[in-house]
Amino acid sequence: MFFVSFVVKEKGMSIIAQLGEGVLCRSAEETQAVAASLAAILPPDTVLALRGDLGAGKTTFVQGLARAWGIEGPVTSPTFAIYAPYHGARLLIHVDAYRLTDAGAGEDLLIEDLLESPWCLAVEWPERIQDTWWLQDAWTLTFESLDDTNRRIRLSIPKTP
Ligand SMILES: Nc1ncnc2c1ncn2[C@@H]1O[C@H](COP(=O)(O)OP(=O)(O)O)[C@@H](O)[C@H]1O
Ligand SMILES: [Mg+2]
Repeated sequence: MFFVSFVVKEKGMSIIAQLGEGVLCRSAEETQAVAASLAAILPPDTVLALRGDLGAGKTTFVQGLARAWGIEGPVTSPTFAIYAPYHGARLLIHVDAYRLTDAGAGEDLLIEDLLESPWCLAVEWPERIQDTWWLQDAWTLTFESLDDTNRRIRLSIPKTP
């Protein structure tokens, strides 16, 4: 937490600009703090595509979003379902498509029926979901494991037409 706010003050950069360059997170707590900073300014009804290897910190990041929106209780990767909704200041829908091995069609998941503004759809393994409108203009966060405790998170936002 300290490290993140320190960087913000020092550089005077918004969290979006920082994430665009890539933010170094030195612990799970820092990753959650970065998520909370993004949660504070994220436009409502945004899809976040979370890319990165197993253990890179995607679920940890979603936990940071959840906490920022006042969602209580644990956010874990659902074992049997592909997604789980959490109600807080935003409706957070956590999708983990890891087990969709046959590149399932997104439309089959019926997620859009759940969306009630303001929502955020946070999708792990988006590359395993196909044919869905909601991933087309997603904000993409890429997680890179540098070693046991260091992660780099980078954001890319689609250009609006
Ligand atoms: N800087 C860091 N950011 C995020 N997680 C970290 C970091 N350092 C260590 N970890 C640990 O790495 C693991 C990340 O797991 P998880 O968030 O479930 O990854 P993913 O969802 O990408 O598979 C957790 O056990 C977490 O405590
Ligand atoms: Mg995960």
